[in-house]
Amino acid sequence: MKATDLLKRQHKDVRGLFRQVKKASDARGRRSGMNEIAAQLEAHMRIEEEIFYPAVQEIGTKKADEIVPEAYEEHHVASLVLGELPSVDPKDERFEAKMTVLEELIEHHVEEEEKELFKLAEKLGAERLAELGEEMKAAFESQVGKR
Ligand SMILES: [Fe+2]
Ligand SMILES: [Fe+2]
Repeated sequence: MKATDLLKRQHKDVRGLFRQVKKASDARGRRSGMNEIAAQLEAHMRIEEEIFYPAVQEIGTKKADEIVPEAYEEHHVASLVLGELPSVDPKDERFEAKMTVLEELIEHHVEEEEKELFKLAEKLGAERLAELGEEMKAAFESQVGKR
């Protein structure tokens, strides 16, 4: 599968999970939904950081030098929020506030990826993008299993 299509599909999956968590009627549902989001996001960010971003950075244009480091930093911030969620009680209002902040952060990041980074990645060519897609799919599944 083409790398950018795989990543877009994962973005869509995470969006759906956020909707589910918001609809969850009890604390247990919110906690388990949050755990699933964390597992998928961590694996997603990892394959981007270890496989996709370095490949895009190799393109070596000014644009690549600008947007790739920014993407790493956005992951860093998302990881900080993700890291705090396990210690917040889902019954506490801070849980929902943190979830909302995380969702907005991810939404902003995903939009930039899909509009700018993925567009830039087209320069890698169809063959390379397909290779990267396979490599990332395998790495993702080895972390969280088939989704
Ligand atoms: Fe990302
Ligand atoms: Fe992404």
